[in-house]
Amino acid sequence: MTVQTAQPKKTGVNRRTFLGVAWGAALLALGGQAAAALVRFIQPVSGAGFGGVVRAGKVDEFLPGSVNLVKAGRFFLVRREDGSFLAMWQKCTHLGCSVPWVESENQFHCPCHGSLFDKTGVVTGGPAPRPLDLFPVTIRSGEVFVDTGSPIQRDHFDPKQATKA
Ligand code: FES
Repeated sequence: MTVQTAQPKKTGVNRRTFLGVAWGAALLALGGQAAAALVRFIQPVSGAGFGGVVRAGKVDEFLPGSVNLVKAGRFFLVRREDGSFLAMWQKCTHLGCSVPWVESENQFHCPCHGSLFDKTGVVTGGPAPRPLDLFPVTIRSGEVFVDTGSPIQRDHFDPKQATKA
């Protein structure tokens, strides 16, 4: 004679099912994040960031003679002594490093191979083959807008390249 014991009735979710659901949810979340990142990556850049028109600020925020980095647009906005503006891409024309403005040297000084550029972006030393590229500047209602989607290559500086305020 065999004695059968009553098995407790299984209710709810067992561990295997719980782990399966948890893994599925984690993979779904990861896949969603990857898809969102991919969409952001392949979307054309426009509006407020690099690749589109960037609002740099109000004209009066930039003192004559100043060099101002606008990080969102990856450019320097130079306000010349006569009040006009130049927007120069931060990208070195040698091999593309980001060029910082070095206030103590009063020039742009590329950390990669030592190219030097004056305040108008003209090469004064090092291997860079041409001045820093410009972006078109527009002034509307007292604000400065820079089109970072249209870089302009040049071989010298001409005051006509600057936009009057
Ligand atoms: S990348 Fe700037 S000097 Fe080479």
